[in-house]
Amino acid sequence: MDLKEAGLCEGISEVIATTRSASRVPNAAPIGILTREDNFFVKLYKGSQTISNVLLKKELAANVTDDAVLFVNAAFATLSANYFSLFHSFPVLKEANSWIIFKCNVIEERRESFLFQLTPIAVEINRQVMRAINRGLNAVVEAAILATRYGIIEDEREKAEMKEMIERYAAIVEKCGGRREKEAMSVLYDIMLL
Ligand SMILES: Cc1cc2nc3c(=O)[nH]c(=O)nc-3n(C[C@H](O)[C@H](O)[C@H](O)COP(=O)(O)O)c2cc1C
Repeated sequence: MDLKEAGLCEGISEVIATTRSASRVPNAAPIGILTREDNFFVKLYKGSQTISNVLLKKELAANVTDDAVLFVNAAFATLSANYFSLFHSFPVLKEANSWIIFKCNVIEERRESFLFQLTPIAVEINRQVMRAINRGLNAVVEAAILATRYGIIEDEREKAEMKEMIERYAAIVEKCGGRREKEAMSVLYDIMLL
């Protein structure tokens, strides 16, 4: 199935995965979906709520958005119930430009991660967004990836290097970002206590 119209192009697409737990609590977190020809994959690291939910329910929704604040909130905060709507009782994000619900099959288990092959079972396109590349948005995404690791590494030198990189991304956000990117960076700084 071609999911280009829904926003998933060749390579890795950064999206917000929504999943639900056994007790139907919705969860959201950024993940990268790899598209290779018409095949879709995701590598999920052990220890997250997302992986517990996916192993249990074998489903995830990939929510496509270019909202920097939503990305950062999904990565570091618990999104409240009013961010979600339900499609046949599966949580998706109300604000998503599009979403795709996938069935997830484990194809490989490693020490720290599982690799899943994804099969689309439902797609919704709410709006098709035309937006030129914004370095500020890309910088927020890069900084958010570093920030999710920052919390788990212990080596002080590595932490200092990461902080320096995040500061470089923050300078790009300041120069190139719009209001949402600047707000996202400030949320990220608050969370990291930088
Ligand atoms: C842009 C971005 C992409 C990410 N991609 C992945 C990914 O592909 N796989 C993964 O396991 N974690 C990924 N992460 C990290 C998770 O989002 C992060 O561990 C999150 O805190 C998990 O939240 P949860 O416990 O609510 O599932 C990514 C983070 C960011 C910011």
